[in-house]
Amino acid sequence: MRDLVRETRLEPGDCVLPLFVCPGEEVRREINSMPGNYQMSIDVLVRECEQVAELGIGGIILFGIPVSKDEEASGAHDESGIVQQAVRAVKRASSKLIVITDVCNCEYTSHGHCGKIVDGDVDNDATLEWLTRAAVSHARSGADIVAPSDMMDGRVEAIRNGLDAAGFKNTPILSYAAKYASVFYGPFREAAESAPQFGDRRSYQMDPANAREALREIELDLEEGADMIMVKPAMPYLDIIRAARERFDAPLAAYQVSGEFSMIMAAARNGWLDLDRAILESLTSIRRAGADFILTYFAKDAARLLG
Ligand code: PBG
Repeated sequence: MRDLVRETRLEPGDCVLPLFVCPGEEVRREINSMPGNYQMSIDVLVRECEQVAELGIGGIILFGIPVSKDEEASGAHDESGIVQQAVRAVKRASSKLIVITDVCNCEYTSHGHCGKIVDGDVDNDATLEWLTRAAVSHARSGADIVAPSDMMDGRVEAIRNGLDAAGFKNTPILSYAAKYASVFYGPFREAAESAPQFGDRRSYQMDPANAREALREIELDLEEGADMIMVKPAMPYLDIIRAARERFDAPLAAYQVSGEFSMIMAAARNGWLDLDRAILESLTSIRRAGADFILTYFAKDAARLLG
């Protein structure tokens, strides 16, 4: 009877699994702070994605760890860069799996910031060109959706124009529209080797104290042409997800980020929480708040539990 009257449903297809791709062959290096998550070389990633597709998971989002980093984030838009190669290989093997690419520079810059540094600070407008080139190169490799996570102003419009001009009118943009400057990205920065070498990201990511600002950020991104919007992190920002759901009709994603994953995992490993129940309850609460789909490191576990 509970099934019959349940208000919120969770399915494997609501989940998107973040994956980290690195150079080499047969590499499967576990990320210390994110047990069960790995930096994978392309061959291993392709096999992983076949499994992911079989589980009925909604898709994957790819992050790259390049061979080398520089001041100009050249690896981010290199046609034979790590993500570009990975997308081609994954789409060749699992053509129906939805492949989203994260568009950002922090994994590719030697200083770890999301944009170009001018006079010791990230230069918003100079970064737009980098982002556009990266997004177009991802689309050209076969990405189904591009997802800018840098939080520069005006990047959705720049990327939309770039995609259209390059003949990718049908490639949608999932915008990390309301992305907070959060401590909960800590484990990810180990996974993607992208911690800023000086300063922090507070000049471009949002103040956790602000809710109305999130709605303004989302509205701007929609005006610029975002097809889908995202709130990130998820559990500490359920109120923002709810407010965005009520105000906007666009498809809404939420990112249960690395720190949310690692907290649950650590508690479960200590015997303080039941892992399976924590996975399902956390994901259900994010759906209940109003997210249509969830980027989560628990995607495979959730699919197995729900299957
Ligand atoms: C890139 C990016 C980050 C995350 C997704 N894309 C890190 C950051 O902004 O520092 C975090 C994801 C996670 O913590 O799981 N800018």
